Amino acid sequence: MADNISSKDDLPLDQESGMFVYLINIFLVVIIVYLIYKILRGQQTPNITPSEPELPKMKKQDFTVEELRAYDGTGPDKRILIAVNSKVFDVTKGHRFYGPEGPYAAFAGRDASRAFATFTVTPGKDEYDDLSDLNPAEWESVREWEEQLDSKYTYIGKLLKPGESHINYEDEEKGSIEEKKDL
Ligand code: HEM
Repeated sequence: MADNISSKDDLPLDQESGMFVYLINIFLVVIIVYLIYKILRGQQTPNITPSEPELPKMKKQDFTVEELRAYDGTGPDKRILIAVNSKVFDVTKGHRFYGPEGPYAAFAGRDASRAFATFTVTPGKDEYDDLSDLNPAEWESVREWEEQLDSKYTYIGKLLKPGESHINYEDEEKGSIEEKKDL
């Protein structure tokens, strides 16, 4: 008799724990589906965001400090050039760093050598900076940054000292092609 009573009481308990396990399973499935969704969405995001078309490669040319200033990422094509150790690089693809909203916007369209030498984020001088006061350690830092930019971005030409004239690289290239033909 006692057995009968206890088996009658057990039945609702079994149902209750079964329901509990069922709910936990549903909860876990929901969490797993949510996590999978988040992971897949995270992987897809770069494809969903329309990537900006790449600018055509700039022809090789030299720049004065004033000419360089036009390429600070606010122009119609948003091109960004930076000079370091007299070399001008097209850093447009690094616009998240150097673009108007970027943390290093101060370098855009400028000679960033002094900033790299002194590890500061400042626009530097408005006129040509001959960097003659930099010490060996600062020069080392400039060269390291130059190497880093050189490995990542396209070299466009030289930053001209006052009085230095622009080299016409098209003539140079034509000359070397004709020299090769003559051989
Ligand atoms: C505590 C201070 C700083 C922190 C935490 C910091 C951190 C960073 C980080 C995380 C990046 C991105 C790297 C990548 O995604 O490839 C970066 C890039 C960069 N940092 Fe800094 N930075 C600091 C100070 C400076 C200073 C003072 C300068 C100037 C000399 C500087 C110049 C740069 C430049 C030029 C880039 C972009 C390099 C490129 O074009 O690939 N940073 N920095």
